[in-house]
Formats: sequence, C-alpha cells, structure tokens
Amino acid sequence: MTAIRSVVLGCGSYLPERVLTNAELAARIDTSDDWIVQRTGIRQRHIAADDEFTSHLAIKAALAALAHAQIDAQTIDLIVLATSTPDNTFPATAVAVQHALGINHGVAFDLQAVCSGFVFALTTADNFLRAGAHKRALVIGAETFSRLLDWSDRGTCVLFGDGAGAVVLEAQPHAGTIADPGMLTTHLRSDGRHKSKLFVDGGPGSTKTVGHLRMEGREVFKHAVGMITDVIVDAFNATGLTADDINWFIPHQANKRIIDASAHKLHIAPQKVVLTVDQHGNTSAASIPLALSVAVKDGRVKKGDLVLFEAMGGGFTWGSALVRW
Ligand code: ACO
Repeated sequence: MTAIRSVVLGCGSYLPERVLTNAELAARIDTSDDWIVQRTGIRQRHIAADDEFTSHLAIKAALAALAHAQIDAQTIDLIVLATSTPDNTFPATAVAVQHALGINHGVAFDLQAVCSGFVFALTTADNFLRAGAHKRALVIGAETFSRLLDWSDRGTCVLFGDGAGAVVLEAQPHAGTIADPGMLTTHLRSDGRHKSKLFVDGGPGSTKTVGHLRMEGREVFKHAVGMITDVIVDAFNATGLTADDINWFIPHQANKRIIDASAHKLHIAPQKVVLTVDQHGNTSAASIPLALSVAVKDGRVKKGDLVLFEAMGGGFTWGSALVRW
C-alpha cells in the first residue's frame, strides 16, 4: 500500500545581526548574567533592527531553506507561516513572503499558536500535503518578540529574542511505514483555561494597541513539563516507537531547565538533545527550526534519523511531531 508522506527536503534559518548579551541587560535592569544563565540557560539574544520586520527575517530563512533543499521557489504551492508578531494586523505576513519569493500561485497564510506555532504549522502543512491538495510547502516560524517586551520587566524581557527558521516539505508516495522518510505522526493540544498565564495585554480588537507580553513564569514552568511529555507519549503510542529509538530531540528552545526536565522524564539521553537557547533565547515559533538548522548544518541530523519536535506556549497550546529525516 502506498501513502502520501510529507518529506523534509531542506531547512534554513536567520538571526538578526544585533546581539544583546546578558551583561548588557544587567547594565540596564536589576538582573545578572548568573541569574539568567542559572534559571534559563540563555546567554544572549538577537534583536531585529528598527527597519527589520518579521517578514524580512522569514524571507531570509525561507531563501536559506530553499537553497538547502536545492529547489526553485516557483515549485512551492503552500506557505504556512507561524508568528505572533506579524508585520501588520493584516494582511498575513505569509503573503509578504510569498510576494518577495515571486510566487503568485498556490496559497499562503499565517497561523498563530505562540511558541507552539511551528509544530502547529508543520502539522497543518502535513495535513494539506497528505490530503493531496498541495505538492510542496514552506513552513516558517518567524518572530520579532523584542517588539512585544516590556523592557522594564526583568521577569520577561531577559527571556525572549528575534529570529526565523523554515523547512521545505514535499508530498511523496511511500509505503507508509515508520522506516519511510517524512512526518510520521503529529499531536496538537490547547486549553484556554490557562490563557491569562501567558498573554499580550493589547490587541486590535480590545485595546487597539499592540500591548506587552505578560507572564506568570512559575505557573508556565509548573505546567510545561507535564504537557510536553504528554504529547510526546502520544507520539510514541501512535507509532510504537520509544525514547531509545529517537536520534535527536529538538524541543522548543524556551528554557534549558524545562528542556532538561522533559528529556529526563522521558528517559531521552542528554546527548540526543539539541540545545541552542543559550545563543538566541526564546524566539517563540522560530526556535525549533533555528535549532534544527544548527543540528543539520553541523552534521548531527543525518538521513534516516528519527527527529522529535515538541513545543508548548501561550494559550496554553502544545504539540509534538515525529519525523524520519
Ligand atoms: N533577574 C534577577 N532576578 C529576577 C529576574 C531577573 N531577570 N526575574 C525575576 N527575578 C526575581 C523575582 O523578582 C523574584 O524575586 P523575589 O524572590 O525577591 O520576589 C525571584 O527572582 C524569583 O522569581 P520567580 O519568578 O519565582 O523565579 P523562577 O525561579 O520561577 O524563575 C523564570 C523565573 C525563569 C521565568 C521561570 O519561572 C521560568 O522559566 N518559567 C517558564 C517561563 C518560560 O519559559 N516562558 C516562555 C514562554 S512559554 C514557553 O515557551 C514554554
């Protein structure tokens, strides 16, 4: 029997030039490099220039992914862009990317699931491809979270940064076994009871302002590990695979302590965990493809490897995706 699989053809990423270190933050607010590194693992973050928008980061990541996949942009007929920091309230940032790539066919839209955005976008594109509606997809996570931060709130401003990452997916016929390449299983969840634990206190429909990010850090931490491990167990149950079968665990890069605790609970060996949060902080929907691009570029992720993605974020939303490279 053959089935359509969404196979990853390539990936790419982009970080803005400007690096903001913990030491620079400590000179501005009551914090320290020690506190930030100990509680989060973050050493620096990248900040977009004033005239650099989310779409600009997304375009650079998309071009890198297309180059890595060695395919022509004209063969893309689906763009799903995950962001909570669009250039404008509308139109979707995805159409700006589509236009910049010279694509006038197919469909491009944004998707908003905050830090889980990339896993939600990957799942959405996978379903479009497996339905036979589209052939090649660009899945992008791109954020300028620096624009949402209250720079006087030390409990949040030290955690986040800007960046973008992208993957190219292609619908291919395969036997459909767990040994075949592509997306093996995806699992998404949300629970709005937690919506006030991590939110932005503005919006076009309420305050008519952009607003600032607000977070009950301890509450987020308390729920994160349980939610993350639940959806990963769902992925294992759906495929019959176990933590031992995983080659690379590429989690949402929010906080090293959350990542370590999740890996420990799941019995995933520390050497299988891809960690880049120290270099760019929490870049929300961009963090997974940023980490993935590093691990692909440095040769860790190889053809045939089993790669596990997970994310959790505002809403709360959370999800997992298991991919054969
Ligand atoms: N520098 C120095 N001290 C600080 C800072 C800072 N940047 N921020 C807070 N503090 C202080 C607090 O004011 C408090 O001081 P007090 O005891 O005098 O009142 C003390 O540190 C402890 O504060 P807590 O908030 O209890 O610190 P905690 O150990 O919980 O660490 C943190 C805070 C890092 C935010 C933690 O709760 C966390 O990691 N939460 C998860 C948040 C997260 O990752 N969110 C990302 C979005 S969701 C996601 O992507 C999964």
